[in-house]
Amino acid sequence: MKTYILKLGALALMLAALPGLRAQEKATVTLHADQGKNIISRHIYGQFAEHLGTCIYGGLWVGEDSDIPNTQGYRNDVLGALKELSIPNLRWPGGCFADEYHWMDGIGPRDQRPRMVNNNWGGTVEDNSFGTHEFLNLCELLGCEPYVSGNVGSGTVEEMAKWVEYMTAEDGPMAKLRKQNGREKPWKVKFFGVGNESWGCGGSMRPEFYADLYRRYSTYCRNYNGNQLFKIASGASDYDYNWTEVLMQRVGNRMNGLSLHYYTVMDWNQKGSATDFDAAEYYRTLGKCLEIEQVLQRHIGIMDKYDPDRNVALMVDEWGTWWDQEPGTIPGHLFQQNTLRDAMVAALTLNVFHKYTDRIQMANIAQIANVLQSMILTKDDRMVLTPTYHVFHMYKVHQDATYIPLDVQCERRVVRDDRIVPTLSATASRDDEGTVHISLANIDLENTCDVEIALGDVKGKSVSGIILTTRNIDDHNTFEQPDKVKPADFSDARLVKGTLKVTLPAKSIVTLSIR
Ligand code: AHR
Repeated sequence: MKTYILKLGALALMLAALPGLRAQEKATVTLHADQGKNIISRHIYGQFAEHLGTCIYGGLWVGEDSDIPNTQGYRNDVLGALKELSIPNLRWPGGCFADEYHWMDGIGPRDQRPRMVNNNWGGTVEDNSFGTHEFLNLCELLGCEPYVSGNVGSGTVEEMAKWVEYMTAEDGPMAKLRKQNGREKPWKVKFFGVGNESWGCGGSMRPEFYADLYRRYSTYCRNYNGNQLFKIASGASDYDYNWTEVLMQRVGNRMNGLSLHYYTVMDWNQKGSATDFDAAEYYRTLGKCLEIEQVLQRHIGIMDKYDPDRNVALMVDEWGTWWDQEPGTIPGHLFQQNTLRDAMVAALTLNVFHKYTDRIQMANIAQIANVLQSMILTKDDRMVLTPTYHVFHMYKVHQDATYIPLDVQCERRVVRDDRIVPTLSATASRDDEGTVHISLANIDLENTCDVEIALGDVKGKSVSGIILTTRNIDDHNTFEQPDKVKPADFSDARLVKGTLKVTLPAKSIVTLSIR
């Protein structure tokens, strides 16, 4: 049977690749707005900024003395672009970096801060000029919640406890030190991670050992002056279900959230080029991307066993594509380009997160600038917005909206490595004003797709839309051609008696608004 499906899949791929055999595919979507009860947490649209390559230095921060136009040291172009995304939260300082980071090195006069070697990421010397104040002030400028990742791997309980006190207490020795460093009022810090990848770069621990350490470290992360920490335990990667089992069993309600990392990577030894790939690799990538749904179901199933009331949130605080770094860039800095394929991965993954929003309360794409699947790429004083940025922009209408359950039926599926990839993916939500937003992705490289959307009790008089597509799937924005891939108005959708009829071009992502 398996061989039969694979052969059919290969045949479908071959046919799709033949010029002149393009077809009009058909699909239906049925909305169940009457069943919508869960809010899509805006925190699913979280970002991640690690001391890695040029994410922070050069990407976000250039310092007040830079020739690059900046506000208090943050580059103006990047600030402006990020504000447009309505970022809900920003995770910092890592990643792997967090478990080697000693926060006291990053406070006080910048020219007196000690240096360190960034052992995880290319051995670059870190001058600590971007520290706690610079991060928390950035969050205030962006209007987002900080998500601070504490050091369990190589830091002490005392160090972590004092960091929380420094950031959030009104009075006391740490508050006094903060005031001496120029910040009178404490910041509000909601999300606090107790370690990162503690099974790997965060300490190579067994889950049983980490569970005890979590209990110990988190005990001393106090709530000062009305600041209420949402404590997040370091979670599993991918298919490590035992980690989740042990943490749920041994930590349970002592954590508010449990993290999960899932990268769209086919082979960690041969990740492949971000821009040079064929149709087979494209579909394979999307198959791996969509596999996140099964992975989530398994982790959520384990969580449900111990926590049926869903008090502990699942936080997918690292996700996205991970390709070979761009040729000619510094090894270990993970600078990669971003094509329409990455945009597809973003759209498909967000669609899955929406579906499980009753358990998934946060997600953080890796990373915000110049690292992995970035929103933004910078080079000196230039900046480009990636196709992934545009998806986040088109999808921001779903933040904090009510998820509308839906069924998708599409004729065509592509089979790759045992993974079946339906060529249409969809999600929908209703915002506070009653506007219904539907996002659709036609992943098919060759064929347009006629979609009929049964709206049920969604009533609307007008529909508007925006589309992201391009001539070639490997198109991307460069410093020379920054607008090669960008959204445009979309008008191929019409309301006909309770049905929305949409014609999606091949390889396109569309967000529709029904008012
Ligand atoms: O995002 C890059 C790295 O991936 C992070 O530092 C680490 O947590 C993960 O392995």
